[in-house]
Amino acid sequence: MLEQKTMVAKACFEMIQSNTIIGIGTGSTVEAFVSLLDNRSCTYVSSSERTTSVMKKKGFEVVSANDVSYLDIYIDGTDAVTDDFLLIKGAGGAMTQEKLLANMARVFVVIADESKYHQNLQDIPCPVEVIQSARSFCARQIRAMGAIPSYRFGSKTDQGHDIIDVYGFSYAEPVALEERLNHIPGVLDSGLFAKRRPDHVFIAKGAQVQHWVR
Ligand code: 5RP
Repeated sequence: MLEQKTMVAKACFEMIQSNTIIGIGTGSTVEAFVSLLDNRSCTYVSSSERTTSVMKKKGFEVVSANDVSYLDIYIDGTDAVTDDFLLIKGAGGAMTQEKLLANMARVFVVIADESKYHQNLQDIPCPVEVIQSARSFCARQIRAMGAIPSYRFGSKTDQGHDIIDVYGFSYAEPVALEERLNHIPGVLDSGLFAKRRPDHVFIAKGAQVQHWVR
């Protein structure tokens, strides 16, 4: 899979232009992309402490999302992508910040190895970030939606919040599901990207890279 991550990272690299503002996602696929970066004329915004540390080790300066009003492009990995460009993200726990950057971006690009392709999201756990004191309430609300919440023990987001991984959601109406989750008091956001989907997906298939455009 490492080879495929490098392949998709190289393919999307062609979209990077000098003097632009670039958002950098989180995870091993994005880190394959970061290893190719050498452009000092760009401004970089990171989606997580993990990514900030990788960028700083490479000698790049990273600014906060508060310091820019938009991103020219946002590059991120995913845990699952469907033919409809639906995503589930957040295995690394950075989904709220990642969704913020995706929404700030003029162009949102996902890079993925072949294992991330799914015909539907049915078997993929959907992470939901919740404030600590609302964890049990949110879990009950999620159970009332017919799904199975599972608290991610020993894991906190960069912002210090809890994560509930949810199994068994129905994805028949993904935008409505995302909105419904966001309306539960105590929920910060979820890893379901239904409203803001990627504009481009670079996904490996064997030794080839497919480029999907929405
Ligand atoms: C982190 C994420 C990552 O993008 C996702 O987990 C993919 O990671 P990797 O590229 O290591 O497979 O959503 O919150």
